[in-house]
Amino acid sequence: MSHTAFSTLNLQQELIANLADLGFEGMTPIQAEALPHVLDGKDVIAQAKTGSGKTAVFGLGILQKLEPKNFAVQSMVMCPTRELAEQVAEEIRRLARPIANVKILTLCGGTPLRPQADSLKYGAHIVVGTPGRIMDHLEKQTLELDQVSTLVLDEADRMLDMGFEDAMEAIVAEVPRARQTMLFSATYPKEIQSMADHIMVEPVTVKIKEQHTGSTIAQDFYRISDECERDVAVRLLLLKHRPDSAVIFCNTKRHVKDLTQYLKSNGFSVLALHGDLDQKERDQALVRFTNNSVTVMVATDVAARGLDIDALDLVINYHIASDPEIHVHRIGRTGRAGNKGHACSIVIGKEKHKVNRLAEYLEQDIEPIALPDTKLLKEPTYKAPMSTIQIDGGKKQKLRPGDILGALTADYRIEGSDVGKIQVANSWAYVAVKNDILEPALQLLNNGKMKGKKFRARKI
Ligand code: CDP
Ligand code: MG
Repeated sequence: MSHTAFSTLNLQQELIANLADLGFEGMTPIQAEALPHVLDGKDVIAQAKTGSGKTAVFGLGILQKLEPKNFAVQSMVMCPTRELAEQVAEEIRRLARPIANVKILTLCGGTPLRPQADSLKYGAHIVVGTPGRIMDHLEKQTLELDQVSTLVLDEADRMLDMGFEDAMEAIVAEVPRARQTMLFSATYPKEIQSMADHIMVEPVTVKIKEQHTGSTIAQDFYRISDECERDVAVRLLLLKHRPDSAVIFCNTKRHVKDLTQYLKSNGFSVLALHGDLDQKERDQALVRFTNNSVTVMVATDVAARGLDIDALDLVINYHIASDPEIHVHRIGRTGRAGNKGHACSIVIGKEKHKVNRLAEYLEQDIEPIALPDTKLLKEPTYKAPMSTIQIDGGKKQKLRPGDILGALTADYRIEGSDVGKIQVANSWAYVAVKNDILEPALQLLNNGKMKGKKFRARKI
């Protein structure tokens, strides 16, 4: 038996059997390192990149000691955003399938407090929420934490970046001291250590270093001699490679905004992702990017963290990251699932020390080359192939993807192949359509009915 088999763990048989059903073949490195300590009841700090399986580490820890007959909140997971809280709750539900009657509740903003409070009254075993909303419930005394024995801070680095420090501390103070505390993070800034110091007891730290990327991602480094060349460098690289889907990383929010504006005014289909966006703007940006109605996303590391964007053709580093691990994290978003990825980094003379550190970390030579010829700037830009339509109805109105597809293809003008990704949220739905059928698609959706009702649709 391999030492990474789940069956080597002190875990309930049903949970192990379910993991096989879920297609989990063996433990990922962070699971193999962290789970024995977690199941031992220790406080654990775990650091590993996005997508490495951290959710199952705490999910299994929570489920192993859950008492289904006790309808009190026994575990609480804090996440930075609603989107992540929902993903985490969903994953714990899958892991919990073999245990009957497990109640998992998400507590996030954007929906009224009242129904959440009612569900809490009815009894929940596990709550997954954002610090803001958890605080609201504590203030209204609709959430009882006196039986919590497991506390998880997921994406703790991002919660700190988002300014949740005070709320987190206030919440932690409401949880009984005799508890197991786990803290998960993709990076490990100093603030995490100081927080861990006063909310954890003799934590075990497990850290999985980023894999060296050597063979699967082609990396080019481009030399510039003046800061003001960065914008034009990005344009040249986009025109040269013409990616359908690219992310550009900048080190500051201001650069994200300025570069986005610059690319927009030069005809690119581009969106910004940074901390000033509210949840709705962020959701929309992601919807439009992942359904191919925008080709370029400009982001800060903080805003992009935790996002699982697959299949990027190109990553551009507008600035080189200050930390080699962050660099590897950024470029790891291209070349997933066995595809060859491509990353371009723009560097200036004074960043030489960062380049040297990176070269050492990657164990490879880095020789920056000159930018593509500026003749390229005369080439036309290119548009994203799809447009996103927003419909003012969603799950609450019982809309399903099939209703939307049906409405669009009811008349012979539009074929199924003209329609892209359909995403149905609570009160909204989004559908991507090929640009050349945008007008008929809007007409069909606005004039026809779905589930016997009229809906409004508009391009976003
Ligand atoms: O939290 P983190 O970014 O580390 O990753 P995650 O959100 O837990 O995602 C890990 C993905 O790998 C999920 O889709 C899991 O279902 C899957 N997986 C896993 O977590 N563990 C395995 N042993 C196998 C698959
Ligand atoms: Mg995670």
